Amino acid sequence: MDRRRFLKHSVAVAATASLGSITAHPAQAASRNRPTLPMPELLDVTQSGRLELKAQTGKTVFAGGSSSPTLGYNQGYLGPFVRARQGQEVAVRLQNDLDEPLATHWHGLLVPGKVDGGPHQAIDPGKVWEPILPIDQPASTAWFHAHTFPHTARQVYAGLAGVFQIDDGLDADRGVPHEHGVDDLTLVIQDRRLDDAGRLDYRLSMFDRMHGFQGDRLFVNGAEQPRSPVPNSIVRLRLLNGSNARIFHLRFDDGRPMHVIASDAGFWPKPVATDELRLSPGERFEVLVDFRDGREVALITGPDQNRGGPGMMGMMSNIRSFASGLVEGDQRVLSFHPDGRKGRVDRLPDATGDSPASRPTAFDRRRHFRLDMMLGGMPMMRGMMGDGSGPSMGINGRPFDPHRINEDIALDTIEHWTIESDMLMHPFHIHGVHFQVLTDETGQSPRLENRGAKDTLLVDGRAEIAVRFTQPAGKDTPFMYHCHILEHEDAGMMGHFTVS
Ligand code: C2O
Ligand code: CU
Ligand code: CU
Repeated sequence: MDRRRFLKHSVAVAATASLGSITAHPAQAASRNRPTLPMPELLDVTQSGRLELKAQTGKTVFAGGSSSPTLGYNQGYLGPFVRARQGQEVAVRLQNDLDEPLATHWHGLLVPGKVDGGPHQAIDPGKVWEPILPIDQPASTAWFHAHTFPHTARQVYAGLAGVFQIDDGLDADRGVPHEHGVDDLTLVIQDRRLDDAGRLDYRLSMFDRMHGFQGDRLFVNGAEQPRSPVPNSIVRLRLLNGSNARIFHLRFDDGRPMHVIASDAGFWPKPVATDELRLSPGERFEVLVDFRDGREVALITGPDQNRGGPGMMGMMSNIRSFASGLVEGDQRVLSFHPDGRKGRVDRLPDATGDSPASRPTAFDRRRHFRLDMMLGGMPMMRGMMGDGSGPSMGINGRPFDPHRINEDIALDTIEHWTIESDMLMHPFHIHGVHFQVLTDETGQSPRLENRGAKDTLLVDGRAEIAVRFTQPAGKDTPFMYHCHILEHEDAGMMGHFTVS
């Protein structure tokens, strides 16, 4: 089938998918009946400067089950892969054809608060939103997704997420592959659960509310554990963790390295090899992989290790993973089979970006953020009371309050932020900024994943970051900071700030 024709064929694609997960290894044997990786055509707006999006309902069949009601942008499930050019303006026209309000946020775009698409900018059913996005930032892979408080988790899970690539026209000079769908593959990785009829399942247990939803099945661009043809050359993978809560620990089943060339906010100075990459919800990485040996290989993930913690939480956590049958071993994400095509790039580039900005040493101000899963007492108990309210979470002791701005920040300043997590690791995201990680994991100098400029950081204990505020945001359309475990965000682990 035409692999560029995205989910129009999701029925056929999904029907051929075989079930469940495997415990890693022989890519070959298990992969023959896999669906082909769907790769939507790029929605390239570099010439037109116009982006038309329609949020709509759909029906999608996953893995041969009964059809599920889903949501998407311009299609029944998920959204397009948009490509824009650095330096241009993109005039968006987003029509909400859903029967509920919808806010859509450009995650990773450095744009002013008035077009950022946070929860303050929810559009009513039938209405249109027309923000103009000035694209003025380094080349990178960003994305967009629903951000409607407190329904973000459900809306994203149902499919409201797409990709937004920023291109600077220099990939050929850099020597990195850049032919979309050929040697430049964008992979939206998500976990899902299907019920007995094979329908998309988003029933939250009290454990899911606490830890965030985790599925036991893995989908890439909407297809379960697909298989992708690749040329026998160096291939670029743009990885996005679009899951609600699950953290991936990606590696190849034959141990071959991934050469990281970019993270959230843009290119690294040069490729850095690693055999494992941790990818938390909202984060992006771009890696180069060498397929010149012609061997089929699978990208796999280890189990999410964001569970446990001391005492009661640890115990609850373990009961949960037992109760929900979460996958404990390795799980296949997708596999690649080199098909003999000769690719364009057959050596790793020496340099891919500028050297990183030097670490700021003076700060205009310091702030402290404590992420808190247990506002108002043991939330597990509240869940068990069955009052339907779920846990209340917050930052610095307060749940998100749409009517109360948390911080007023001065434009064109650099601040030092310390973020502390509680018993779980939390992917902390800030709108309207890129930041540099100074320390992570309680005082350690940044691990490999956190060396580049970022907008989302998995906080494990305590982290310190240098944040530069270059975009204005007024009090009617402030920027957000929040945990990117979407159930935590909806439970109140979010704040908002102005920049002026
Ligand atoms: Cu990707 Cu405020 O979110
Ligand atoms: Cu964002
Ligand atoms: Cu969280």
